[in-house]
Amino acid sequence: MVAEAPVRSGSRRPVPTRAPLRLVEVVAEESERVSTGVPELDRVLGGGLVPASVVLVGGEPGVGKSTLLLMALGAMSKRTKVLLVTGEESVAQVKLRAGRLGGCDDVEILAETELDAVCDALERWSPAVCVIDSVQTLWSQEIGGAPGSVSQVREAAARLLRVSKEAGVATFLVGHVTKDGTVAGPRVLEHLVDCVLQFEGDRYHAHRVLRAVKNRFGSTNELGVFEMTGAGLVGVPDPSEVFGRTPGGEVGAAVACTLEGTRPLLLEIQALVAPTDLAMPRRVGTGVDPKRLAMIVAVLSRHAGLPLGAADVFVNVAGGVRIDEPGADLGIALAIASAAKGVPVREGVGAFGEIGLTGRLRGAAQADRRVEECRKLGLRAVLAPAGTKGATAEAETLRQALSAALENPS
Ligand SMILES: Nc1ncnc2c1ncn2[C@@H]1O[C@H](COP(=O)(O)OP(=O)(O)OP(=O)(O)O)[C@@H](O)[C@H]1O
Ligand SMILES: [Mg+2]
Repeated sequence: MVAEAPVRSGSRRPVPTRAPLRLVEVVAEESERVSTGVPELDRVLGGGLVPASVVLVGGEPGVGKSTLLLMALGAMSKRTKVLLVTGEESVAQVKLRAGRLGGCDDVEILAETELDAVCDALERWSPAVCVIDSVQTLWSQEIGGAPGSVSQVREAAARLLRVSKEAGVATFLVGHVTKDGTVAGPRVLEHLVDCVLQFEGDRYHAHRVLRAVKNRFGSTNELGVFEMTGAGLVGVPDPSEVFGRTPGGEVGAAVACTLEGTRPLLLEIQALVAPTDLAMPRRVGTGVDPKRLAMIVAVLSRHAGLPLGAADVFVNVAGGVRIDEPGADLGIALAIASAAKGVPVREGVGAFGEIGLTGRLRGAAQADRRVEECRKLGLRAVLAPAGTKGATAEAETLRQALSAALENPS
């Protein structure tokens, strides 16, 4: 429960009416996108940063939000005026990180948490790009509640939005995801800002994935992949090379060819099928949608004759990547079938295709690009739904696909 003070109802001022315009009369200048100097970040933003836009960058603690944005500021400071407002770390801490990353000498920095002071600074200095790290530390005297409370965060974002539109400052807001992703988290701001980026990845692995959840100026399907190193985040231009390599001959592993935005991506899918005494066997997926996983398991039992009713099924996607796309269904099904039967998938096979509830395979979008990616990575065979151009093995149904892909199926 958050207490909010009632608004004072004074005498109402007359509001001047403004006549509507026809769209043809509206003058809109096409503003040039600015490169952030981090190619993977540019890709996720839809080809660069739009001037005067507000971008919310969310992510779990320690995933590397401050590192990513400081790198971008460092690169942009060579061309324009940039400002880092830090409320979380001291100036000295930021200096240490900047030393590790290198090339950040011209970044201007302000340690401030008072909202009015931050807005003032933006208006006075009017930098081209500003980073607020983080929006949860900003605090305004006029609003009740502690810093980070819903009313404070919402007010801070609304004020910054107005200032950045008026002063033409492209603003990155860093937001922490709270445990449930709701209260005082960046969720309450998603509808306000132009662009919401989510920085994901296992804190304990080096790879991080940046994706757009919302983008008013571009596609939300693009994906940026980074590796965290001692000298900062390094873009991974060819993630298939990293995530799609299987040792071969392993039971329970398959390579799925998915599509993330305009980029095909090979991913290793691992599965484990273990007998259980639970009345409700578990279906646990890391990186896959639980509903999709349950559906694939059901289709495997019903239409491919795999007895999974008394087994726990675990599925994991390599590298902490999350799959949202139905084209990966076949790869997931292959990994589960391989684990259930105890036979490996043939070496050098990549698969894609959507699985229907009837057990029939359906074509996936942009098949030719997926096939090409498999070729590029040196996979010998591409298993795809019937009618896919360029595939080396085609299958009408899931049952046919399994017998084509698994070694000596029993
Ligand atoms: N010397 C180093 N070598 C390798 N990785 C490092 C080094 N120093 C920091 N890191 C990585 O950087 C991460 C912290 O990055 P950063 O501070 O940018 O994260 P953040 O998302 O801003 O965190 P917070 O939520 O605390 O603000 C650490 O989890 C660690 O993985
Ligand atoms: Mg940080």
